[in-house]
Amino acid sequence: MAERLRKLFDEHEIVRAVQRLAQAISRDFDDQEIVLVSVLKGSFMFTSDLVREMKGPVIVDFLRVSSYGTDTRTSGTVTLTKDLETDIEGRNVIIVEDIIDSGLTLRSIRDMLLARRPRSLKICALVDKRARREVEIEGDYVGFSIEDGFIVGYGIDYAERYRNLPAIFVVQEDE
Ligand code: PRP
Repeated sequence: MAERLRKLFDEHEIVRAVQRLAQAISRDFDDQEIVLVSVLKGSFMFTSDLVREMKGPVIVDFLRVSSYGTDTRTSGTVTLTKDLETDIEGRNVIIVEDIIDSGLTLRSIRDMLLARRPRSLKICALVDKRARREVEIEGDYVGFSIEDGFIVGYGIDYAERYRNLPAIFVVQEDE
């Protein structure tokens, strides 16, 4: 059954947010090389738009973690199912996420990457959803802040659907 969707951020707003983020990153890093760590799958579209706006030297790599079930939620850790191919020791790393929700995924990834001793580690998230945060974690570069709501589109799925939508929508609750 199709869900009812309400547009939250259109294509133009997303373009502007991505440009703003790329400019902020470029300002901070200037001509230094950055390793962008894109967290699959949700951030694939965001990553591809973000790198096109970045002016300095950029390396792109991907990792994937398992979605947390009840067990992993309790422990707060997620399992790595696809690792980076890049050695990040001594390098400037930015984790690229589509959304921070509870924060568990990012905290887990951040701690795992910090153990590899990067020179610096920052977080860039397109959407920061604040209402359900369970751990203290903040994005260094954030496109949009929202309180709550189930969002889809621009890489973000609902049961694997809607990732292809070029804008971001809220899934409407049934009344
Ligand atoms: C989503 C999103 C983040 C995570 C955020 O990924 O891409 O990685 O959940 O949630 P959290 O802050 O509560 O941990 P998901 O597990 O749905 O996988 P996907 O990226 O493949 O869609």
